[in-house]
Amino acid sequence: MTSITITRPDDWHLHLRDSEQLRAVLPYTARQFARAIIMPNLKPPVVTTDMALAYRARILAVLPTALQSNFEPLMTLYLTDNTPPAEIVRAKESGVIHGVKLYPAGATTNSDAGVTDMAKCYATLEAMEQNNLPLLVHGEVTDSDVDVFDKEKVFIDRILMPLTQRFPSLRIVFEHVTTRDAVAFVEQASSNVAATITAHHLLLNRNAIFQEGIRPHHFCLPVLKREIHRQALLEAAISGNPKFFLGTDSAPHSQANKENACGCAGIFTAHAAIELYATAFEQADALDKLEAFASFYGADFYQLPHNKDFITLNKENWVVPEQLEFAGERLIPLYARESLAWKMT
Ligand code: NCD
Ligand code: ZN
Repeated sequence: MTSITITRPDDWHLHLRDSEQLRAVLPYTARQFARAIIMPNLKPPVVTTDMALAYRARILAVLPTALQSNFEPLMTLYLTDNTPPAEIVRAKESGVIHGVKLYPAGATTNSDAGVTDMAKCYATLEAMEQNNLPLLVHGEVTDSDVDVFDKEKVFIDRILMPLTQRFPSLRIVFEHVTTRDAVAFVEQASSNVAATITAHHLLLNRNAIFQEGIRPHHFCLPVLKREIHRQALLEAAISGNPKFFLGTDSAPHSQANKENACGCAGIFTAHAAIELYATAFEQADALDKLEAFASFYGADFYQLPHNKDFITLNKENWVVPEQLEFAGERLIPLYARESLAWKMT
């Protein structure tokens, strides 16, 4: 195959940051995707409907003119111990907020204000269930005695399984799943539970973090896992099961903050997102499954229409730039200086 045309995809998990950083990274996403679920882990976090509306306006304000009516940010709220149920009603009524993000406190970048105890959120989760507003989950426990590679599995057992039992009608997206345990959990759960899968977790296993030395640009959370887990994610992605769909978790940090004695978690993939997914699907000989994964299943879960236009990818080698401009700093994209075999026209 030398060319594929698919319905324009959406990114169901994206970090855009703010201000000049937002201006720098937004065009990469808007060029490829029609819509994206925008993560609320800013400093300070997006905890109210008013803050989400203001953030949405800032995103639209820096959208390049050529892409003005082609990209829609789908906003989210950041769940805290104190998010009032009334805020859920306001969020739903806004019409532009499509989910509420659960970060266990301390799990990842800018998650300090996250949830310390699920029980504190029961009334709010009930309001989400009643108002049909999905919960988007960063599925890792934060206990320091749990091995970093087991944090997702332990989260399923301790938090997610009980949550689905207590709130059977709550729609849940298990974000950026990284283990076969997470895949198995989502498969056996009700149709109210779905998952996003990143391109980097489809393409890399944990060896990539230690390839001839420590590789900070391959560090993200949840951290890359063993090859058996990558295989399970790939099988889920190409299975045609509508519970699994595209979410890049593209998460830009400056080169200085990545190449650091305490480097930030996050891999930037927006520069080549759909090309990276195409690479993974081609390796699994399943390019015919890419369109539904990238363009249909996520929209269906979020109860939004499919996009009406198309994108085309050509089989064409190109070299990923060494670095990108990032608000006066440098951003190192995934596969910098390496060659990719698919290019979006
Ligand atoms: C994300 C970020 O940098 O905001 N980092 C990451 O490694 N994925 C946060 C997150 O989604 O966990
Ligand atoms: Zn994320």
